[in-house]
Amino acid sequence: MIIILAAITLQVTAAILALRQSGKKPAIGWLFIAIPLLLLGAIKTLDLVGIPTGIQPEVLTLFVGASMFVGLVFVSKIFKAYHQNLTLLKSIQDIDRVMLSSISYNGVINAIIDKLNQTINPDAVGIYTYDKHGHKLNVLKAYNLSEEFQKKVTGDGNEFIKSVIENRRTLIIDRFESDEDVGFLPLLKQEGYAGYVGTPIVSKGGAPIGAMALYLRKPKKYSKHDIDFIKTVSSQVGIALDREQFIDRIHEMNFESVYSLVQAIEMRDPYTRGHSLQVAKLASSIAEAIGFTGKDLELVKFAGLLHDVGKIAVPESILKKPSFLTNDEWKIIQLHPKQSVAIIDPIKGLRQIRDWVLYHHERWDGRGYPKNIKGDRIPIQSRILSVCDTYSAMTEDRPYRKRLSDQEARNEIRKVAGSQLDPTVSSIFLDLGVNGRNGNFINSFSKDTLLGDLDLDSTSNGNGNGKAFSQSVLSLLEKSKQ
Ligand SMILES: [Fe+2]
Repeated sequence: MIIILAAITLQVTAAILALRQSGKKPAIGWLFIAIPLLLLGAIKTLDLVGIPTGIQPEVLTLFVGASMFVGLVFVSKIFKAYHQNLTLLKSIQDIDRVMLSSISYNGVINAIIDKLNQTINPDAVGIYTYDKHGHKLNVLKAYNLSEEFQKKVTGDGNEFIKSVIENRRTLIIDRFESDEDVGFLPLLKQEGYAGYVGTPIVSKGGAPIGAMALYLRKPKKYSKHDIDFIKTVSSQVGIALDREQFIDRIHEMNFESVYSLVQAIEMRDPYTRGHSLQVAKLASSIAEAIGFTGKDLELVKFAGLLHDVGKIAVPESILKKPSFLTNDEWKIIQLHPKQSVAIIDPIKGLRQIRDWVLYHHERWDGRGYPKNIKGDRIPIQSRILSVCDTYSAMTEDRPYRKRLSDQEARNEIRKVAGSQLDPTVSSIFLDLGVNGRNGNFINSFSKDTLLGDLDLDSTSNGNGNGKAFSQSVLSLLEKSKQ
């Protein structure tokens, strides 16, 4: 009897040990090793001991039954652990897939929240990052967190997040003791949380840029696999943010290139300095009033910015001529819409605007150039540009005339509406009462347009109101206004 009890104890111990070990090695491996060992162990035990005389068959049945029960429990636990690990691994793969298919960090963050919910199921999640100066902690993503709590978490008194970020170490609190009231604990308790896991978010260069915090309403001890999963997910947030920063910089460089084209032409002719930006602003206001949104609105802005870029091919002697132009000189000037298109053409993200730019000197009555098309055969975007270009040109000095006042220019627009200009677009412009000379317009440019062929995730900037440009771009634009 002692030997039988010892054998059962031995098997139970072996099963527990194997189960604990399975956390370090693939569980399936243990499954295949443990089942034969367990069976062999049972057979060998009987073989060594033999069927002792005097032992009742019921006792032997109990022994075999206990062995089978232990084996069953062991196998089911191994299966459960294996399944959990597989789910975590698959979740990481799913997030990786989102990272490959989307260059927006928003898509990745949403996928991460989904996967956390499907696997380790926290009650709330907060993803926090420092601003670009590294001073203030902002909420990048909040799941199930109250507004008030978010403000407090990012406030000065949050030692938990600071400790996680500064020490670059994961902070795990399985349960809060009721008498503990140090640091951030009172606020967490007040919100009804009983457990907390905070992991740092680190950039590619190793700098801590934020933290991810999981909040639990009931005490829970996460397994080593769960904690590893949380850490992996946190590093995926870091990769997504790094990539976002990289894309932002590419976008800025694209915009700087586009804007340098505009600068190049406007520097040659001081009379038209700021003209393109003003046309872009006015065109944007009209397009928005008509109902343009998102990328459609964005492209109108770029068309306004680039409509006259082809003037770079017009000799300065013609551009700055202080008297009226000859017929031959007019013919050269009239080539500029085609030349603008030739310059824009290599920019894939702006191909849609080529016709709008090409036709920006067409007239409503068909007497414009280069194609003499009329009425609504002229793209609406070109008709918008035409109204804005006309107003802007009239309110600028020229070598051969002084500028008109805002009111005088509006009166002129009124006069030519229906002949030179689209009457409806003219009317919308006059009703808006804008002049395009105020406001931080450049901040309204979205990054989607110039990176359009990279298929940005729709969740990033779906409304077309993208991020502000960097300080370098803003200063570039400020300089152009002086
Ligand atoms: Fe033009």
